[in-house]
Amino acid sequence: MRESTEVVVIGAGPAGLTLANLLQRAGVACVVLERQSRSYVEQRQRAGVLEHAGARVFEDWGLADSVLAGTPRDGMLEIRVDGEPRYLDVPGLADGRAGRIVPQQVLVGRLVAAFLEGGGDLRFDAGEVSPHDLDGASPAVTYRGPDGVVREIACSYVAGCDGYHGVSRTAVPAGALTTYTYDHGIGWFTVLADVPPPRHPLLAVHPAGFAAQFPRGPRASRFYLECAPDDALGDWGDERIWAQLRLRLGDAGLPEGPITEKAVVEMRSFVVDPMSHGRLFLVGDAAHIITPMGGKGMNLAIADANVLAHALRAALREGDDERLAAYSATCLKRVWNHQEFSRWMTEMLHESGDATLAGPFRRELARARLERLFASGAAARAFADLMAGG
Ligand code: APR
Repeated sequence: MRESTEVVVIGAGPAGLTLANLLQRAGVACVVLERQSRSYVEQRQRAGVLEHAGARVFEDWGLADSVLAGTPRDGMLEIRVDGEPRYLDVPGLADGRAGRIVPQQVLVGRLVAAFLEGGGDLRFDAGEVSPHDLDGASPAVTYRGPDGVVREIACSYVAGCDGYHGVSRTAVPAGALTTYTYDHGIGWFTVLADVPPPRHPLLAVHPAGFAAQFPRGPRASRFYLECAPDDALGDWGDERIWAQLRLRLGDAGLPEGPITEKAVVEMRSFVVDPMSHGRLFLVGDAAHIITPMGGKGMNLAIADANVLAHALRAALREGDDERLAAYSATCLKRVWNHQEFSRWMTEMLHESGDATLAGPFRRELARARLERLFASGAAARAFADLMAGG
C-alpha cells in the first residue's frame, strides 16, 4: 500500500510529538510512526523540567493552553553542601524567565491529545520502520502496521525523532557523520518513589557522593545517587538507597515510600555532526545524548523540533531552503552550549564533594566554582541564564 504526505516523523517521544504539533500548526502535513503503543509512550517517566526557552516554544506556536495549562513555574533551586542549604532564585536571576515543572509523561500525554484533536495522523505499534532514498528528491518510509500489512509513505522530508537506538541515524551511510562521545567516568543510580516532593528541586554535595531529589508531580520524587560507573541494579538494595539518601541529603528524617522504578543512568554524552543527511533530519536523542545533569535532554529535543518546524515550513510553503540548510549548524550551537553546561555542573557538584573522583586539588577548584555562584551576582546570573535555556 502506498500513501504520501509532506513529512514522515519517525518516533513519538518529546522530539517527534513536539515536531508533529508544530507542523500541524504550520499547516504542514505529516504522519508520525511510533514503534511502541500509546500507553507505553504516555507512561514513560523520564525528564521533569521544561526550561523557559522550551515553554516559549509552545507559547509561540499557540499551544500554551493545551500543553502548559496548570503546570507550576519553577522557582528556587536548593544546593545543599554537606547538609547546609544554599538557595538560588533561578527565575529571579534570569529576569523572571521561569521554566515549568512538568513530568515528561504529562507533557507527552498532552502533546498526543493536542495532535489527535487537531486531526493528526499518529500511528502507534508501527514495526520495521525503515527510511529509503534519503539522498534523492523523493524519499519514502516503509513500516509494518499492527494488522501485519506493509505500507510505504512517500514524502518530501523525513524527521528522525526515534531516539538514540532508532533506525534513522543508522540509515545514514557510514562516514557521512562525525560522532563525538564522552564517558563522564561516574554512574548515577536513579529511583522514582512515592515520597512527597522536596520544597525546591534539590542538589546535594557530600563526601559520600552527589545526590539529588526532584519533584515528579504532587506525590512523587525522583532521586539520583552518584555511584560507581559499573554498578548494577542489584548493588542498590532499598536499605542502602534510603541510608545513602539520608546521609548525602543531610536529612535524617527523609520519609521512605514505595519505590516504583530503579535504574542505572549511563553518564555519557554523544553528538553527531551534521544532524542531517539528504532529506533526513535528526532531532533530539537521535542526534545527541546529554547527561541528566542540568535537565537539558528533553529541552534540546524541543529546541531542535522548533528549528526544524520553522525550516520545513519555509521550505515547503515559501520555497526557501536556507533554514533547512542551516538546521544542523543552528541546533549544534545550542547542543554544544548545553553539553558544556552539563559537564561544568557535573564537575562542580561531584568533584566538590567526592574527593576520590578527581583528587584534593580538583576538589578545591570545584568548591571555588560552587562558592562563586553564591558570592558573585554575575556568576549566578550566568548560571540562571543557562538554566533558562539562553
Ligand atoms: N521506529 C519507530 N519508532 C521508534 C523506533 C523505530 N525504529 N525506534 C525508537 N522509536 C521511538 C521510541 O519508542 C520513542 O518513543 O522513538 C521515540 C524516541 O523517543 P526518546 O527516546 O524519548 O527521544 P526524544 O524524543 O529525542 O526525547 C529526548 O526526552 O526523555 C527525555 O531527557 C530525555 O533526552 C531525552 C529526551
